[in-house]
Amino acid sequence: MAKVSNEEICNGIGVLEIDSPPVNALGAQVRCALDEGLRRMMASADVKAILIICAGRTFFAGADISEFGKAIVGPDLGEIFTLIEMSDKPVVAAIHGSALGGGLELALACHYRIAVPSAKLGLPEVKLGLLPGAGGTQRLPRIVGVETALDLIVSGRAISAHEARTLGVVDMLATEGGLRDDAIAYARSVLDQPLVRVRDRQDRLESAHGKPEIFADFRKKNARSFRGFKAPENIVKAIEAVVNLPFDEGLKREWALFKELEASIESLAQRYYFFAERETTKIPDVPKDIPTIPIATVGVIGAGTMGGGIAMNFLNIGLPVVLVEMSEAALDRGLGVIRRNYENATRKGRMTAADVEQRMGLIRPALDFAALADVDLVIEAVFEEMEVKKDIFRKLDRATKPGAILASNTSFLDLDEIAAATSRPEWVVGLHFFSPANVMQLLEVVRGRHTSKSVIATAMKLAKTIGKVPVLSKVCNGFIANRIMAQRQIQADALVLEGPSPQEIDQAVFDYGFAMGPFQMIDLVGLDVIGRGATTRSVAGDLVAMGRLGQKQAGGYYDYDEHRHATPSPVAAEVIASFAVDKGVVPSGKQAAADILARLLFPVVNEGAKLLEEGIALRASDIDVAAILGYNWPVYTGGPMFWADTIGLQTIVDSLRALETRYGAAFTPSKLLVELAKSGGSFTRG
Ligand code: 3HC
Repeated sequence: MAKVSNEEICNGIGVLEIDSPPVNALGAQVRCALDEGLRRMMASADVKAILIICAGRTFFAGADISEFGKAIVGPDLGEIFTLIEMSDKPVVAAIHGSALGGGLELALACHYRIAVPSAKLGLPEVKLGLLPGAGGTQRLPRIVGVETALDLIVSGRAISAHEARTLGVVDMLATEGGLRDDAIAYARSVLDQPLVRVRDRQDRLESAHGKPEIFADFRKKNARSFRGFKAPENIVKAIEAVVNLPFDEGLKREWALFKELEASIESLAQRYYFFAERETTKIPDVPKDIPTIPIATVGVIGAGTMGGGIAMNFLNIGLPVVLVEMSEAALDRGLGVIRRNYENATRKGRMTAADVEQRMGLIRPALDFAALADVDLVIEAVFEEMEVKKDIFRKLDRATKPGAILASNTSFLDLDEIAAATSRPEWVVGLHFFSPANVMQLLEVVRGRHTSKSVIATAMKLAKTIGKVPVLSKVCNGFIANRIMAQRQIQADALVLEGPSPQEIDQAVFDYGFAMGPFQMIDLVGLDVIGRGATTRSVAGDLVAMGRLGQKQAGGYYDYDEHRHATPSPVAAEVIASFAVDKGVVPSGKQAAADILARLLFPVVNEGAKLLEEGIALRASDIDVAAILGYNWPVYTGGPMFWADTIGLQTIVDSLRALETRYGAAFTPSKLLVELAKSGGSFTRG
C-alpha cells in the first residue's frame, strides 16, 4: 500500500503532510497516518508546533464517502480531532484547494487556520443527506455565530478564503503558491500565544441564548426547500444543541443525529447520486486519454429561447459565439432576450454591468452560414422538423471547416438521419440541452452510429467546462430523460379519464417530491405548447379549442385568479368527463396515492429498463442522473432506478403485471426487469 504521509521538522515546526490522491479523503489509511504522525510529533521534544498540510490538488475533501454505512476501521475522526484540539502544542491547518466536510472539521479542531486566497471552505454534508458528524455543527457556530452557521451548514455552500477570513474561520491568508513556507512562519509566530480551543469559545453563542425563535424562524423560512429531505432538520437540531448543551454533550447529540441520517434511505440515495454524477463521463469504449478537439469558438443556429440559452453557456466561460438567424428581426429579438437575462442577473447581484457588456460583446450576430467558416463547434437549435434540420446540416457541411463538430439540439429526432445529410457523420453529435438551457444542469450527449470517439470525449469534456453534467445516450425517440418521463404523462392523461381528478394526481406526484404534478406543469408551460403538432384528439386539445391555454390564458386543467392561484376547474372536470364518455373509458373510481404513483412511475422504471436492454443508456445510474437533473426527480429517492431497487423489483413487476392484465401491453414488464427481479438482482447495486 502506498505511503500517504510525510513527516519533517522545519525550524521546530513538525510538518505532517498527507498525500492521498485524488482528494485526500479522510479514509482509514489517512486517519491512521494522521493519528500516528500526530502522536509522534506531540511526543517529540524537537517539535514546538504542528502543521497539517496536504500534497496534491487539495486539502482534505472530507470523510471518504464510500466508507459510510460500513464499520469504522482504525481511529475515527472524532478521536483524531479531540487529539488535535487537546494538544498542548499549537496545531495549524494549512489549506489549499478545498477544505470540505471532515476536512474543514479537522481544520476547526486545529488551533489556527491559514489558507491561500484561492481556497474554498465548506460543510457540504447536507448534499449527501448527512450532517457534519465530526464536530462541525458544534465548532463552526462557536466561530461564526449560530445564524451564519445555520446558513452555511444547511445550504452546504462553500465560501472563499477571503469570506472565511472575514468570518474568522481562517486566521490568516497565505501567498498563493507559498502556503508551506508561510504556514511554517505563521506557526512559529503563534508559539508564544496562549492556546485557544474552539470548544471553549462562548463569545459568539451568547446572542443566541434564550432565543429559540432563531431556530423556529429558520425552520419556517426554509420549510419549502427542506421538503422531503431529512438532513436539514437534523442539522438544525444539532445546532440547537450548541446553544443548549455543553460541548461534549453537543458532540454526542451531533453523532446520534448523524447516525440517524447515515442509516436513512434519503442519505443512501444522495450518496449514491454523488458517485452517479461522477460516473457519467466514464465510457467503456472511449479511452480516458483520447485526444479531444480544442473548442475556441462556437456557432449557434437559432436565437430563440433554446438557442439563446445555449449561447449563454459559452459566453459565460468567455468563448465567442457566432449567432445565426434567418432575419434581422429574429436576431434582434434573440439578442434582446439574452441581454435581458443577463440584466436580471445584475439586478440579483450575480454580475456587474461590465460583465453584461463583456458577454454581449462576445456575440457575433449573423444572417449567413458563411459566418460559421472558422468555428470549432456549431450547435443547431431550430424547431423540430427533420427536413429543416437536414437542410441545415447539408449547408453546414459546406460552410464549416474540416474538423468542426456539428451538433444538433434535437430532443427526439433521429440523429443518424440528420448526420446522413452530411459527408462527415463522424463529426455529428447530439447536444440535447434542457430548458432553460443556461440554467438546467443536464446535457444529453447523443452518440450517433458514426460519431467518433474523440467527438464524444470532446462533448463530455465541454459539458463539464460549461458546468453541465453530461449523460451519454444512443439514438432513440426522446433519448433518455424525455423518453422515460413521457411515460408519466401518458399514464396521467389516461388515469385522469378514469376518475381521479387532476388535483388528486398532482397531489400524489407533489407528495412524492416533485415540485409540481403533471397537470400543474402543463398549465404552466401552456396547453397549446404541449399539444403542438398533435394528430389525435386529447383533453388538452379540447381545452385549447375552448380557448383555455393554461395559466397564461383562461386557465387549463385548473382555474386561476389574478395572482395565479389555482383552484379545481369545473369546466375542465366536465371536459375530462365528456372525453372519457366519448372514449368509452371504464371509471376506476378513487385511488390511493400509492396506486396513483405506481400507475404513473412504475412505467417510468420499466422504460428505464428498456433503455438499458436496448443499450441506449450505459448504466442505470445515468438514467437516474438524467431524471434528477432533467426533470427534478427528487434526489433523495435516488432517481427512478435507485428508487425501484429500494421498493424491490419483484413488487414492481407484480404491479406492472396487474396493470397489464387490466390495460394491456403498455404495462408489460421489460425482459431485463423481470430477469433482475427473478434473480434477486438490482439496477444500481453492484
Ligand atoms: N470521498 C470519496 N471519494 C471522493 C470524495 C470523498 N469525500 N471526494 C471526491 N471523491 C472522488 C470522486 O468520486 C472522484 O472519483 P473518480 O475520479 O473515481 O470519479 C475523485 O475523487 C475526484 O472528484 P471530482 O471528480 O469531484 O473532482 P473535482 O476536482 O471536480 O472536485 C471536490 C473536487 C470539490 C473535492 C469534489 O470531489 C467534492 O465536492 N467532493 C466531496 C466533498 C464532500 O462532500 N465532503 C464531505 C464528505 S462527508 C463528511 O466529510 C462527513 C463528516 O462530516 C463526518
